[in-house]
Amino acid sequence: MEYKNLIVKTEDNITTIIINREKALNALNLETIEELIFCLNDIKKSSDTRVVILKGAGTKAFVAGADITAFKNKTPVTIRNLVLNLQAVINMLEDLPMPVIAAINGYCLGGGLELAMGADIRIASETAILGQPEIKLGLIPGAGGTQRLSRIVGTGIAKELIFTGNNINAKRAYEVNLVNKVVPQEELDSVVQKLAENLAEGPSFALNMAKEAVNRGTQMAISDAVRMELELFALCFAHNDMKEGVDAFLNKRKPEFGK
Ligand code: CAA
Repeated sequence: MEYKNLIVKTEDNITTIIINREKALNALNLETIEELIFCLNDIKKSSDTRVVILKGAGTKAFVAGADITAFKNKTPVTIRNLVLNLQAVINMLEDLPMPVIAAINGYCLGGGLELAMGADIRIASETAILGQPEIKLGLIPGAGGTQRLSRIVGTGIAKELIFTGNNINAKRAYEVNLVNKVVPQEELDSVVQKLAENLAEGPSFALNMAKEAVNRGTQMAISDAVRMELELFALCFAHNDMKEGVDAFLNKRKPEFGK
């Protein structure tokens, strides 16, 4: 597919998706959301991709939210369908078997933060501004913000951010565990790339099982979740990567996964 609003490239098993609507601060319109669905479906089927990086074009924004120009004259039914598609994108990110890293530069607001929360790891530049400002539009977050933010930062901080609509800087986002790391803006790409390379060299099946265990397990009762973890742990014994990892350890050499 020829993308209009995305740049997608795969190199050394790392697929980078750039949301490319710089003039609108990479706001998510329906076309972009549909392209993301197509792109993520492609990645899901690809045997080339071992890690995904998600970022926005330019240095001013990751994504400044859903495209507000699309809100005018919408009925509850038509807006519901649009945001259902955005929810689908975020669910797809979470369900991808490989790790997804969000590189957050500049504004990461509303649907942009909801999108970033679908990633497994969020790295922010010092210039990042994050928030759920929907309340200022007379709205609430609609693409998972009330739920994922509460689960990541706890209900107290989530309610403060959602009720006030006030944005926070990268330092505060790190303090409340919303991002994993904050780096100088000029280092963001290289830090994210290095992490992606590190993960791409890892055992992809075990990484998939680890993601599954964390994502599904945290939605279950702990007794069921640890039992599920045990089954996934045992399943890793069926994969060559486990044989390679153990053999490499016992023979004091670096493992070569995915062979
Ligand atoms: N939708 C559509 N266009 C947007 C946009 C958005 N979410 N955010 C920014 N833009 C556009 C602006 O309209 C402007 O376009 P023009 O040049 O054609 O006027 C361009 O991007 C640059 O933006 P600004 O001139 O506003 O830049 P700024 O530096 O003065 O301000 C900002 C930056 C604080 C991020 C401001 O643009 C802003 O507040 N944006 C809206 C943020 C927001 O409310 N996001 C939540 C959207 S609702 C949502 O996401 C719902 C959901 O949960 C699904």
